Amino acid sequence: MADLPAPDADAARHSQQLEALLRAEILQAGGFIPFSRFMERCLYAPGLGYYSAGSTKFGTAGDFVTAPELGPLFAGCIAAAVAPVLQQLGPDAGFVEIGGGSGAFAEVALKRLLALDALPARYAILEPSADLRERQRERLGRTLIPPVFELVEWLDGPPEAEWNGVLFANEVIDALPTPRFTLREGEVFEEHVAVDGEGRFVRQDRPADALLAAAVRHVERYLGTVFPDGYRSELLPHLPYWLQAVMGGLGEGAMLFVDYGYPRREYYQPQRDSGTLRAFYRHQVHNDAYLWPGLQDLTASVDFTALAEAGTQAGFELAGYCTQSVFLLGNGLPQLLEEAEARAPAERLQRLRNEARQLTLPSEMGERFQVMGFSRGVDLDAAFLAGDLTWRL
Ligand SMILES: C[S@@+](CC[C@H](N)C(=O)[O-])C[C@H]1O[C@@H](n2cnc3c(N)ncnc32)[C@H](O)[C@@H]1O
Repeated sequence: MADLPAPDADAARHSQQLEALLRAEILQAGGFIPFSRFMERCLYAPGLGYYSAGSTKFGTAGDFVTAPELGPLFAGCIAAAVAPVLQQLGPDAGFVEIGGGSGAFAEVALKRLLALDALPARYAILEPSADLRERQRERLGRTLIPPVFELVEWLDGPPEAEWNGVLFANEVIDALPTPRFTLREGEVFEEHVAVDGEGRFVRQDRPADALLAAAVRHVERYLGTVFPDGYRSELLPHLPYWLQAVMGGLGEGAMLFVDYGYPRREYYQPQRDSGTLRAFYRHQVHNDAYLWPGLQDLTASVDFTALAEAGTQAGFELAGYCTQSVFLLGNGLPQLLEEAEARAPAERLQRLRNEARQLTLPSEMGERFQVMGFSRGVDLDAAFLAGDLTWRL
């Protein structure tokens, strides 16, 4: 950990406040809490969690850069891919974005949908972080023309009423608090967090509850193997419930998820025996999830087979699954780049080309990130025509 930049005094104080809150919760719970609860507090404790407190997370000054933060190309391509779905559904179709980050995606997507004559009747953002909501509101109020800004609303919970339209989430599933499991003498254990004599957070494995144990056995059956003792990884047994909750009353329409991850067979490879959980701190990635609660992002890769199962269980068809690179190239990236270059001042050209490279190169985001789409009553398959990877699930 020696080469991670130390937090300044303010940040350190902030983290100590969250640590104190966590210690108190652990004590009150009888000495341990599930790792997923620890992660949930680290990311979303009001006013203190990583996503709930007011520091810069996104972009070059923050801890990581997401695809919409790089520039206009990513959101432009997603808008091009879903515009035909919105047009098929007609003027009442809505758009729900889960986890809006800084608002960069919404800004570009709405401008592009306006240009494509495919604006939704409303653009709803489901964002648990009050701080990020405020930033989104400020940004969209400043950058969108008033009639388009008026379409935007923030939801306190998933849309309950029946709706048709498009649901989109970039890098949200990787931020869902995840249980971690391990195997001991053939039994499934769940990682919990306890406090040692010196007040430090320490791992404590305890027998898993029935839901997690059954989910691990389901993965083993799927893989046709059993995990060896000591194997440790992550799993989201509640993913199907989460998905059905966020889609709310979605009837006809499409859902599109972009994230980093693997099909199940690659996710749970024998050599990946410490899981995929990572901490991001000022553009450095490391494995110590207990370090500086509230100051670092915690994420786990997505099991895309689990997402395919959850989507189809929710009554949707799997429309396609491919790498981000293939998806963007098949949904207008070259044309968008050309158009943007024609308008951009000379000093912006290099940035645009770098953006295209970062989004598509296999060594950057091109293959690590993947896109999965679901549809019901509409045709989203065309967006996946190039390079479908559903056979890998
Ligand atoms: C890594 S950020 C990605 C932000 C944005 N989509 C982007 O690409 O820049 C994760 C986002 O998901 C939000 N989030 C996390 N859990 C969520 C949940 N259960 N429902 C809705 N949003 C959630 C976070 O607050 C944050 O805005």
